[in-house]
Amino acid sequence: MDHAAGVCAVDLTDLDLFSGGFPHEVFTELRRSAPVAWQEPTAHTPDGVGFWVVSGHDEILEAVSDPATFSSERAPGAAGGGTLIQDLPYGFAAGVLLNMTDGPRHHWMRRTVTPAVSPRSLDAVEPELRRRTAAIFDGLEGRDRCDFLLEVAVELPLQATAVLLGVPEADRHALMAWSNATLDHDGRELGESSSAAEGAAAATAAYGTRLIEHKRAGDETDMLATLCRAGAGTGEAASDLELLMFFNLLVTAGSETTRNAIALGLEVLVTHPDQLDRLQRHPSLLGEAVEEILRWTSPTLYNRRTATGDTELAGQAIAAGDKVTLWWASANRDERVFDDPFRFDVGRHPNPHLAFGYRSHFCLGANLARLEIRIVLEELLARFEGFELDGPIERFRTNKHAGVRHMPVRLLRR
Ligand code: HEM
Repeated sequence: MDHAAGVCAVDLTDLDLFSGGFPHEVFTELRRSAPVAWQEPTAHTPDGVGFWVVSGHDEILEAVSDPATFSSERAPGAAGGGTLIQDLPYGFAAGVLLNMTDGPRHHWMRRTVTPAVSPRSLDAVEPELRRRTAAIFDGLEGRDRCDFLLEVAVELPLQATAVLLGVPEADRHALMAWSNATLDHDGRELGESSSAAEGAAAATAAYGTRLIEHKRAGDETDMLATLCRAGAGTGEAASDLELLMFFNLLVTAGSETTRNAIALGLEVLVTHPDQLDRLQRHPSLLGEAVEEILRWTSPTLYNRRTATGDTELAGQAIAAGDKVTLWWASANRDERVFDDPFRFDVGRHPNPHLAFGYRSHFCLGANLARLEIRIVLEELLARFEGFELDGPIERFRTNKHAGVRHMPVRLLRR
């Protein structure tokens, strides 16, 4: 195998590299020298094999436009695959989770659940999301300090995901605590487990199993209930495992990402007061500002594919079975696509960012996430004159998400 063309000399599986946020300087150099580069395995790298690091916007588009060659599922016959650097077992996660399936099964699941996030469905939930957001901010009345992550950014995505899945109000916070414990890599490396993560995963699975039983029997119309009953009595109906994995996926995909966009979106406005001022004076820029926040924060740092046969990507030979990682957060700073990519510009247009991915696996919740970010921004602009960071932002130890754990903020009231 010829990996000579471009080499990624920095270890992207060393989670310490991400402890201060996305290592932009590493990726700027990769885009310049080798937008498709090979990373040799290190002591940190799961499965003991290297992987391709695709950092350029064009190169990522080329890969995601050919899902038959760059599979979200696996290489033919492989025991593992999926969209994380570490292999997940085929038939348990890869090939079962919506985002880790290809072809007809992916299309069927995606078609079944899409109506729940159609513009009409989102119009229907918008008043409830606005009410909940107002209540979240009302809860801060009389205070000028908060942990913006825990007290604001976590809440709305959690509530929105719970509404989509029809999770009863009383169970929502327990679900979120388990989800946090599953994703946190504090004190463990990629591919390793911890008793906290295992316990939380087991609790989520037990809860999801009970909820699915309840949805199957009832007549609710939320996204999970729809998938539970679709194709009933035919070979198409989702299996128990598919349903449980879908539930898990939505809990994490729906809340972890959006909360980070909301928190880091406020951070970038605080650190760019001219842009905050511009937005305050021109609220008609809100739509563009949401897209720029998504580009800037890129909450999902990467997803992986696997080459299903020998192929080429942007002229680089890739061998069958190779892992290929697509770094959305790097594409979103690609100087070949964005003018002055390190300038935060709430009026940026056009803004072809890849924060939600592209093509067949394009984020199912993109419009819901956009709506949530917009609603929070509107409340922030209406209620406060300004904001200050009240201490350092504490992050999760991960190379997968722009994960914020705590964000102390001072709120300057009107
Ligand atoms: C700012 C917030 C969000 C970001 C940055 C984000 C990011 C992404 C990205 C990059 C992908 C593509 C994965 C790939 O190509 O392998 C994706 C897929 C997905 N997202 Fe999101 N997401 C966000 C919010 C949400 C929300 C709110 C939901 C809940 C409805 C959601 C559910 C999903 C699902 C189910 C998929 C898989 C779609 C498929 O494979 O067909 N996401 N997301």
